[in-house]
Amino acid sequence: MKQIKVLDKEFEISMPEDVIQKRIKEMAVKLSKDYEGKKPIFLGILNGSFMFASDLFKEITIEAQITFLKLASYQGTTTTGAVKQLIGLNQEIKDQHIIILEDIVDTGITLETIMRQLSGYLPKSIKIATLLFKPEAYKKDVVIDYIGFSIPNEFILGYGLDYDGFGRNYKDIYTLIE
Ligand code: IMP
Ligand code: MG
Repeated sequence: MKQIKVLDKEFEISMPEDVIQKRIKEMAVKLSKDYEGKKPIFLGILNGSFMFASDLFKEITIEAQITFLKLASYQGTTTTGAVKQLIGLNQEIKDQHIIILEDIVDTGITLETIMRQLSGYLPKSIKIATLLFKPEAYKKDVVIDYIGFSIPNEFILGYGLDYDGFGRNYKDIYTLIE
């Protein structure tokens, strides 16, 4: 079992690169089919989703745009519950079909905040595509339209996900060893 150490914690591999990439291609095929002719705008939530957004967007075969929004809600391995918007939106999303790209949906607090703020800009539609979803941790009612993988309620890193800012660079996803 491949293990890594990031800062003071040990992690073991839980999702290899090829599995991640295969699933992202499937998601891109589905999204390209569902949004044919709609010229959607993909909205990547930084920092965590930058790798997912990049790999997914490369596999999109229809006319589409991509832009990014930055929020923060995590410090260390526990959620703070506090979410703040760091980079704002503009009018470009009015009357457009928006697909939010998240690396992971955990409690759903971040997602709910984003949805609330986004609706104020009057997009034509908003859907959510997340690479990872922790169903046991999810506390909200917002429907998640596209899910890559449902995973156990454990702390993970790699493939854009971090532990105190580190570990984003791994191509595979790793789970914290308790
Ligand atoms: P939520 O608001 O609780 O749904 O948390 C969403 C955000 O928390 C994600 O966009 C990630 O940045 C971060 N996050 C949630 N779970 C993990 C994890 O297991 N590892 C690293 N970051 C996580
Ligand atoms: Mg994130």
